[in-house]
Amino acid sequence: MNLLDRILYKWLFRSLANQLLITYLIVITFALAAVSFWALVAIRKESLTDLQNTLEVEAVNLGLEIDNDLELDSPKSRLRIQSAVDRRATRLGVAIVVVDSDGRLLADSSEPRPQENLAKEQEINEALAGVISKSTRSDPESLKNWMYVACPVRSSGTTTGVIRVGVPLTDIERRLKKDLFVFLEIIFATGVVTVLISLWLAKRVNRPLIEMSALAKQISISGDFSAFLPVRRQDEIGELCLSFNQMIGRLREQERVRQEFISNASHELKTPTMAIGSVVEALQAGAAEDPKLRHQFLGSLERLVDRQTSLIQDLLDISKLDSGGETGWQEDVNMAQLVSDSVEQIRPQADKKELAISTQFEASGAQDLVVAGNTSQLQRALINILTNAVKYTPAGGSITIVVRALSSDRLEIRIQDTGSGIDAFDLPHIFDRFYRADKARTRETGGTGLGLAIVREIVARHHGTVEVESTVSRGSTFVILLPLRQRGTEIGTI
Ligand SMILES: Nc1ncnc2c1ncn2[C@@H]1O[C@H](COP(=O)(O)OP(=O)(O)O)[C@@H](O)[C@H]1O
Ligand SMILES: [Mg+2]
Repeated sequence: MNLLDRILYKWLFRSLANQLLITYLIVITFALAAVSFWALVAIRKESLTDLQNTLEVEAVNLGLEIDNDLELDSPKSRLRIQSAVDRRATRLGVAIVVVDSDGRLLADSSEPRPQENLAKEQEINEALAGVISKSTRSDPESLKNWMYVACPVRSSGTTTGVIRVGVPLTDIERRLKKDLFVFLEIIFATGVVTVLISLWLAKRVNRPLIEMSALAKQISISGDFSAFLPVRRQDEIGELCLSFNQMIGRLREQERVRQEFISNASHELKTPTMAIGSVVEALQAGAAEDPKLRHQFLGSLERLVDRQTSLIQDLLDISKLDSGGETGWQEDVNMAQLVSDSVEQIRPQADKKELAISTQFEASGAQDLVVAGNTSQLQRALINILTNAVKYTPAGGSITIVVRALSSDRLEIRIQDTGSGIDAFDLPHIFDRFYRADKARTRETGGTGLGLAIVREIVARHHGTVEVESTVSRGSTFVILLPLRQRGTEIGTI
């Protein structure tokens, strides 16, 4: 590729506007050229037909004037014919010849060619046969195109001679040339207007696109979501700008949530770490010497480390869920089985508080209580809710779990406790990350405020919902709705 090609290539393919411009130009030029060509051909045809008609009328008129003289065929009559021919030829600016029935020249308005036989010329030949004939050809002497019309002169049924009227086509050709220039001017002017309009349009279309591309570049380089695009239009481009801004808004929100999460997580991690530090300090300062104190301090150290561990586990889980990691293949999860297993897992804690746990499974017809999903994630969600139920229910209370098919495609899991209940003020927030209804008390019970956030995340991934009903000091009921596995459904990822 040489330099010019490369520049042209760049000019054309690096710019949408230039591609549009070239396309418009080609289409418009082609269309106008086609129309012009068609118009010129039509004008030419029309002019020639007009001219032919005029010549024909002249020939017929002359025929009426000289038909007697043609029949007489005497020197005198020939003179009369010649003068009639000359008169008309000068008046009309045409060339006229008259031949007799054998094709011999009788009179000629241009220089006389006596006794020349013109029968071999096509139009005269045809006219001698009795028809009006026309021909257009170039004259070798004048190098001009001529039109000839030959008319037979008839008397009592026989052709007595032929009158041929000829005229050079220079006038028509001059007019056509003029028309051609007018058309070319129109094509050129239209081209210029097209270029101007295209440039204007390109600027209109390109400006927001260039702005958008610059902003996208800026975001990708600096990660700074502070700027929005100006939306000045209501067309598709305006809509694109709006969507772009919505995307920026969403990214901004995500970024805000992420920052908040990090700052909350660091804060949550810092508190027990500092407590561990002080306990260790106290032990080093001499508390380790006293067996009673040592036992007490080591006990709190163990609780603090446990809390730290469970917080870190929750953080890992939630970030895994956020990043879309751990996308296990969908398994058939038997919820009755899973609920029983989960209950067994928390039973030791429940027994410690003497809480009664009852489970109830209601399958509908042939429908098993089977959900398509990830077993360990679903178990994690159940355990989180059950742990809360145990944690927030005072000794002697009870926990009831009902698993049932609501319809052929929906499963409901109700986990009801007779615990402290949740204040209406806190209720809308308990699924938020790090949200704890009663901070002092829950921290004491080892809560991180992430348990229900993880539940909501997992249930959502299984295309389900989780809700809570609660009355303070009466208890709470968590209701999970999940789609039941449909027989024959495709196996995919969550
Ligand atoms: N069964 C329940 N009874 C009363 N309050 C509950 C129950 N489950 C959750 N909560 C409240 O919701 C808050 C959020 O729960 P969760 O996300 O599991 O965090 P935590 O780590 O504190 O258990 C808890 O701090 C608690 O105040
Ligand atoms: Mg919890």
